Amino acid sequence: MPTTPALNGLTLVRHPLVQHKVTLLRDKATPTKIFKELVDEIAMLMAYEATIDLALEPVGVETPLEQTIGQRVAGKKLTLVPILRAGLGMVEGILKLVPSARVGHIGLYRDHDTLEPVAYYFKIPGDAAERDFLLLDPMLATGGSAVAALDALKKAGAQRIRFICLVAAPAGVERVHAAHPDVPIFCAALDRELNERGYILPGLGDAGDRLFGTR
Ligand code: PRP
Ligand code: URA
Repeated sequence: MPTTPALNGLTLVRHPLVQHKVTLLRDKATPTKIFKELVDEIAMLMAYEATIDLALEPVGVETPLEQTIGQRVAGKKLTLVPILRAGLGMVEGILKLVPSARVGHIGLYRDHDTLEPVAYYFKIPGDAAERDFLLLDPMLATGGSAVAALDALKKAGAQRIRFICLVAAPAGVERVHAAHPDVPIFCAALDRELNERGYILPGLGDAGDRLFGTR
């Protein structure tokens, strides 16, 4: 694949384990069970990168030998927000890393003809302004769903949001960055383009269908 120039606001996670697993995800022969496991593992590795600058605060801790000062993540619990359906596949992996995280949900689907998102569900913790959010969706295609989700999160008070996806198209990254320049975007692959039906090329197909076996 030819190299794609860097895009504003985007961090491409180039870790070899992430890249290896993304290649397995792309393979049309990868069955649902393995696909689900890979999304889970990649999401955990991506969350590790995406949380690298979370604020810390000192805390006293007593070891078996003496009292010392350690560090803990400051502030209220991190909140994961999967975009339904496919974002659900990323939640459990990240919860292995951050077991106390809260989980909100945003229900959106893409209209097949217009490719614009249709909203059907929204629920996040009430004290949104005080929390750090990780918005999750494996696919960033036209960017319509991510922009709608970010609009809704901000309307509900969220101020610190990072968006983690697995495969992104340049048009989607540009659209999200133009609408929400304060939101860092993390992806595992920046692909070439969208086809006429809004699918990412080379991509991995329909992430929701591959995760849930609904093709
Ligand atoms: C997929 C994907 C994203 C969206 C990306 O969901 O999980 O949410 O498409 O496309 P966009 O960037 O052009 O908006 P889909 O709409 O297929 O819904 P589903 O997860 O319920 O199948
Ligand atoms: N949604 C998907 O699941 N895959 C794509 O390639 C684009 C949108």
